[in-house]
Amino acid sequence: EWTIENFIDMEVDQIQKKVGDRKVLCALSGGVDSSVVAALIHKAIGDQLTCIFVDHGLLRKNEADDVMKIFADDFKMNIIKVDASERFLTKLQGVDDPEKKRKIIGNEFIYVFDDEAEKLKDIDFLAQGTLYTDIIESGTETAQTIKSHHNVGGLPEDMQFELIEPLNTLFKDEVRELGSQLGLPDRIVWRQPFPGPGLAIRVLGEVTEEKLEIVRESDAILREEIAAAGLDRDIWQYFTVLPNIRSVGVMGDARTYDYTIGIRAVTSIDGMTSDWARIPWDVLEKISTRIVNDVAHINRVVYDITSKPPATIEWE
Ligand code: XMP
Repeated sequence: EWTIENFIDMEVDQIQKKVGDRKVLCALSGGVDSSVVAALIHKAIGDQLTCIFVDHGLLRKNEADDVMKIFADDFKMNIIKVDASERFLTKLQGVDDPEKKRKIIGNEFIYVFDDEAEKLKDIDFLAQGTLYTDIIESGTETAQTIKSHHNVGGLPEDMQFELIEPLNTLFKDEVRELGSQLGLPDRIVWRQPFPGPGLAIRVLGEVTEEKLEIVRESDAILREEIAAAGLDRDIWQYFTVLPNIRSVGVMGDARTYDYTIGIRAVTSIDGMTSDWARIPWDVLEKISTRIVNDVAHINRVVYDITSKPPATIEWE
């Protein structure tokens, strides 16, 4: 009989047999798939697993600290956290084309991971959170032709590791169930999809530290209010974007000339198509008020009411 408990027992056994007393490396992003893989392999071989977590400086508010708290403090895993934000921001300077930004981030991720992996001795295996759907979809992924999807899971091609992909028979809902069984918190198991290039594709045009901060703070407010309204499980993805426009506003007696924040919130089954989420107006009102009051340089908030197609979920 197939149950999650039986699956865990079987996989733990297989991983132990395969790995023996050797070592495994895993790129942990804090996303559902890589988190579940890390937790499963850690259950099987404990300290023989090392995770590398690259903080590219394009993560959401508190995300890096939260990942470290869960995996380093609570799970007591070996994790190497690489603070690479300067490396990424320097590479992104002056770049405003979305596909160029993706390429730079994808490549830089591989260089950073490579640099760290090379410092580690005697690693034989590389664990990856490939799902069943990743295998059947690859080759036919139409989104690939629209945008080059660089997952933070993407890995160096010339590395001489044997792959371990224990999730490659599972669907997403089974991966979530597995994650819960392994003791991962709901905020990981039910985390909304977050693109590998992170906030860099939500700051439209050139990425600067100041603009990242605006997106990060407004996004944190949006997430707080969506959770407070109990809507976080109904909406597929919800985030803010910073388009490159400024408009006139008024604050007290003074005229302002500041940025606009866009709110994007969509319902979807698989991300291939989507509809805009009908967030209650009073929730939107609260979000808007908080964003203009609490985030510097924002004097206007707009709500994106386009479906996919013709729009995409992200704005870049
Ligand atoms: P779009 O914007 O194409 O997004 O409608 C569909 C889904 O894919 C995510 N997305 C990405 N994920 N790297 C990723 O790992 C990317 O470059 C990327 N671009 C979009 C997006 O968040 C949505 O879930």
